[in-house]
Parts: sequence; C-alpha cells; structure tokens
Amino acid sequence: MTAALAAILGFTATTTFGQDASLAAQGQRVFNDQGCYGCHTMGKSGTPIAPDLSFVGAKHSEAYLRRWLMDPQQQKPSAHMPKLELSETEARALAAYLASLR
Ligand code: HEC
Repeated sequence: MTAALAAILGFTATTTFGQDASLAAQGQRVFNDQGCYGCHTMGKSGTPIAPDLSFVGAKHSEAYLRRWLMDPQQQKPSAHMPKLELSETEARALAAYLASLR
C-alpha cells in the first residue's frame, strides 16, 4: 500500500462519511495515482483511447468492476485493457468509486 493511500485510510476513518462514501473517495485517489487517465476520460479530463468512465456505474455492477480491474482478459478475452498491478484493496476502492458514477 502506498503511503498516500494509507494516509487516506487513516483520514477517512475519522470522518463522518458512510463506509461506501469513504471507500469511493479512496478509489478516486487511486484512479488518479494509477494513470487510468492515460487511456480513459472522466468528463472532460483524460485521454480518449478507451471508453469514457463518467457513467460506468450505470453499466456495470461493483462486483463486475472489481473483477474487471483485477484481470480484464478474464472477464473478456478480447479486452485490450492491460492487467494493472492493483492490490486487492485498491481494486475494491476503485470499484466502489466507479460503481458510484451513474
Ligand atoms: C493502456 C490503456 C488503459 C489503461 C491504463 C486503463 N484502461 Fe481501462 N480500458 C482500456 C480499454 C482499451 C478498455 C475497453 C475495453 C477493452 O479492453 O477492450 C477499457 C475498459 C475499462 C472499463 C470497462 C468500461 C466499459 O464501458 O465497459 C473500466 C471500468 C476500466 N477500463 C477502468 C479502468 C481503470 C479504473 C483504470 C486505472 C486503474 C484503467 N481502466 C486503466 C484501456 C485502459
């Protein structure tokens, strides 16, 4: 786990957000840190090589998103998205964040 993520975990534990809201906030941070913007767009930001993710929560469930992030090819053999080096924790936070976008 990165120091930044550890700091967020510590920080959100002391706020009054609900469990999901804080997990989604961590996921947003992971999204920035892991270079997802290198291929995807989120609203007006990012690189339009891969699908825009602004409303991806309306398309896929949180469980599907987590599996996708851990191994895209396993969900869809023809996937072009590379398997990224995400920890279980990062994938869970990212999935919570993405699932909230709808
Ligand atoms: C090297 C480019 C690249 C990077 C980096 C990348 N992706 Fe992707 N991603 C893709 C491509 C291309 C697709 C389209 C599906 C496919 O692979 O054929 C995709 C698909 C997706 C989908 C499914 C979208 C849909 O509409 O079904 C999600 C969710 C996603 N990416 C999330 C992420 C997240 C989160 C990150 C950062 C951790 C990330 N991606 C980093 C290239 C990338």
